[in-house]
Amino acid sequence: MDAIECIKTRRSVRAYKEDAISRDTVKEIIDLARMAPTWKNSQTLRYVVVDNKDVIKRIAEEATLGFEHNNGIISKCAALVVLTQINGRCGYEKDGSFTTSKGAGWEMFDAGVAAQTFCLAAHEKGIGSCILGIFDDKKVAEIIGLEEGKTVATLIPIGYAESAPNPTPRKEVDDLLSFI
Ligand SMILES: Cc1cc2nc3c(=O)[nH]c(=O)nc-3n(C[C@H](O)[C@H](O)[C@H](O)COP(=O)(O)O)c2cc1C
Repeated sequence: MDAIECIKTRRSVRAYKEDAISRDTVKEIIDLARMAPTWKNSQTLRYVVVDNKDVIKRIAEEATLGFEHNNGIISKCAALVVLTQINGRCGYEKDGSFTTSKGAGWEMFDAGVAAQTFCLAAHEKGIGSCILGIFDDKKVAEIIGLEEGKTVATLIPIGYAESAPNPTPRKEVDDLLSFI
C-alpha cells in the first residue's frame, strides 16, 4: 500500500473480529509509529498496549465517563493502546519555562501526530484502529498503574475490522485552503 492509498483508505474502525493481534505485529506498528516527528525530537510518547481482556473490560466499564458508545468499542477490541506521555518536556525549556505561548499544548500536539502515525501504520498492516477522546484519563492511569510524571494522552482500540467502515464526509479543498 502506498502512502496516498494508506491516507485515503484509513477509517476509524469501531467493530472488531475476535482474532487476537500478535505482540510481534504490535511491535512492527510501534516500530513505524516511533518515526513520527516530535518537539525538538523529545520523543516523550510511550505506548502501553493492553491485551489482557480483564484490564480492557475494567477500562471500558470504569473509565469511559458513562459514554456507552466508547465502552462498546473498547470492550470488543483485540487490544487497547494507551498512548502515554512523559510530562514537562515537550514545549518546555530546560529551566522548566514554556518555550512558546502555546505552553504545554505541544504535548497533545505530539501525541496527535504520533496517534495518526500509529493508525496509518496499523492500517498498512491490515489492522483497524480508532482514536478516542472521551475517557477518564486519570482512571485509566490508575488501572494500568501508570508511573508518576506521565499522562494518558489518548486511547486507541485496535483489532481486525469486522466489516469495512463507512467513509465519512470531508470538506472540499477550496473550503479549507487559502493563499495569501
Ligand atoms: C482527537 C480525536 C478524538 C476522537 N474521539 C472519538 C471518540 O471518543 N469516540 C469515537 O467513536 N470516535 C472518536 N474519534 C474518531 C472520529 O469520530 C473520526 O476520526 C471522524 O469521525 C472521521 O472518521 P474517520 O476516522 O473514519 O475518517 C476521535 C478522533 C480524534 C482525532
